[in-house]
Parts: sequence; structure tokens; C-alpha cells
Amino acid sequence: MRSAKDFFAPLAVGAPQPVREVPARPTRMIHFFDPSNPKMAAKVPDMIGTVDVLLGNLEDAVKADNKLAARQGLVDIAKATDFGPTQLWTRINALDSPWVLDDLTTLVTEIGDKLDVIMVPKVQGAEDIHYIDRLLAQLEAKAGLTRPILVHAILETARGMVNVEEICGASPRMQGISLGPADLAADRKMKTTRVGGGHPGYLVRQDPVDGDIQGQRSTYQQDLWHYTVARMVDACAMHGIYAYYGPFGDIKDVVACEDQFRNAFLLGCVGTWTLHPAQIAIARKVFSPDPADVAHAYRVKAAMGDGTGAVMLDGKMEDDASLKQCLVMVELAQQLGA
Ligand code: GLV
Ligand code: MG
Repeated sequence: MRSAKDFFAPLAVGAPQPVREVPARPTRMIHFFDPSNPKMAAKVPDMIGTVDVLLGNLEDAVKADNKLAARQGLVDIAKATDFGPTQLWTRINALDSPWVLDDLTTLVTEIGDKLDVIMVPKVQGAEDIHYIDRLLAQLEAKAGLTRPILVHAILETARGMVNVEEICGASPRMQGISLGPADLAADRKMKTTRVGGGHPGYLVRQDPVDGDIQGQRSTYQQDLWHYTVARMVDACAMHGIYAYYGPFGDIKDVVACEDQFRNAFLLGCVGTWTLHPAQIAIARKVFSPDPADVAHAYRVKAAMGDGTGAVMLDGKMEDDASLKQCLVMVELAQQLGA
């Protein structure tokens, strides 16, 4: 683990950055709240310990007229609250907005000691992370903070997607990346109108067999986000940071929400955003390993002895590589105390 001192070392732009071990704290759900909404703000104390991350959102979904109230609301909540095991994150406004400089200045100097991670929207390339990194270093020094604030980028522009590898490695502060399916869809000119999830028109149809009526063959809906999530996961894994699904806007469709979260989990994501209390239990269930998978992983571990060679277990061949997969499950279970 790198020390805090390393975080404040000047960043040599373009130089390869060492992989930083990120703190192994589970972040299965990043629960969004609007600090300018008194009803939502009042619920914050009750959520401590029940969600892994509470995120005070300042960006999209907060009306322009409420931006200052949201920022001040977050300061007030953070000062008045002991977050215990729950991490406190914020999503600042976009780097080209009129609010972001004051967001950073106010939050880091007023509540920097409480903030674990700053989520940066619409990140386009490493230069955006370098900018945030430098600014954070200055503000942390001014505020006398000894613990570095980490950075999380949202992938929600085509340019950000193309630059995802350099974004992940742009600073040792990088904690992780989330998919931003709504903005990304718009930027790519996809033909969707939703916040995350699938589309019934994105499908494959079975080949015709004799007797089939044209147009009535079985169809299977495909996952619109498979390529994007897989690419994001690879970039994160290469740099030792965490990948997350993002928002799922159809709050009532808990089935599709669970499916979308599970696809992301199986592909390597560690968590997701939750926009409504109904999604918290779904995220907890999906992003915690199945006890049967964990039990199997421990059996393979025991059967593999020193970890080399191959063994047969329940008629299946296990070897060094299947053991490594099992160890991913074991490690996650241990982090979650499962
Ligand atoms: C999230 O911010 C999104 O655009 O999906
Ligand atoms: Mg967005």
C-alpha cells in the first residue's frame, strides 16, 4: 500500500504510474441522494451501516437553481454525521460547468476529512484526471488533510470510452470507474431513451427452420452494455482499480435491474449505483458472492493443495487457473465477512 506522501508527489504527466493497492472495502452499492432535498437528507442517518457508500449528488438530477443548496446541504450533513462503516462520496458537477470549482474548493476545505471519494462526471481523458489530481493536492494541503481523497470517473462520453485505459492509470488516486449509460448513449447517438438497462429492439432472431412463419421465429434480447462493461472491466483490472455498473432508472422493474446488475457482477464489476431504496437489497444480493459458489471455491482451494497441478472434483478438472478464479470468490467473501 502506498503512503499518503506518495499521493502528494508531483504527477509526471505521461509517465507510467505504479499500480496502487486500493483499500479493500466492499462498495457493492453507491447510494445516491440529493443533499438539497430535505426529505432525502433526513434519511441519511438511517442509511448508515445499511449501504456501503452514501453519495451526495451535486450534478445531473439536481436542478440548476438548487446547485448551491445541494453543495451546502452536503457540507451540513457531513459535519453533523458520523458515517461509521459507510463511505461518504460526492458527485461533483462537470468540469466545464460553472459550479465545479466551488464544489471542489468548498467540499475539500470544509469536509475533506469526511470525504472518501470524489466522483467526476463526463471524464474525457487523462487530462481531466490530472487537473482534478493537482487541484485536490493543493486543496488538501490548504486544508491540512493527511488522508488523500480518491477519484472515481464516470465513463459517459465516446471519447472517455476510447481513452478508458489512460483514464484508469492517470493518477494513483484513481479508485474506480462507473458506466454512465444515459449520457454515453446520448453521446454515441444510440437510439435509446432510458437510464441504463436493455432495449426490446436490440435482439437476435433464430435462423428459420422448415415450417417457420417469417417474422415469428424466437428472438432473444441482447445486452446493450456488454461491450462497454467488458472494456471498462479490462481497463480497471489492468490498473488495479474497481469497475462499477451505473444507474438503472426503471425503479419498478426490479427483475431487469437485478439481471443488469448480475451481468455486470459476472463480468467483473464490484458494485453499482442505487437510486432508490428498492435497489439496495438487489445490489447487496447480486454483488455479494453466492454462498454455494464460495463453498465450492473453498473446496477447490483445499483440493488443490499447494496450488499446482490438476485434480478431478465432481467429474470436473480443476487446475491453477480454476483455482485463481476460486480465489477471487474467496477474497470477496473474506472482505465481506461472508
Ligand atoms: C449517469 O450519469 C448517466 O449518464 O448514465
Ligand atoms: Mg450522466
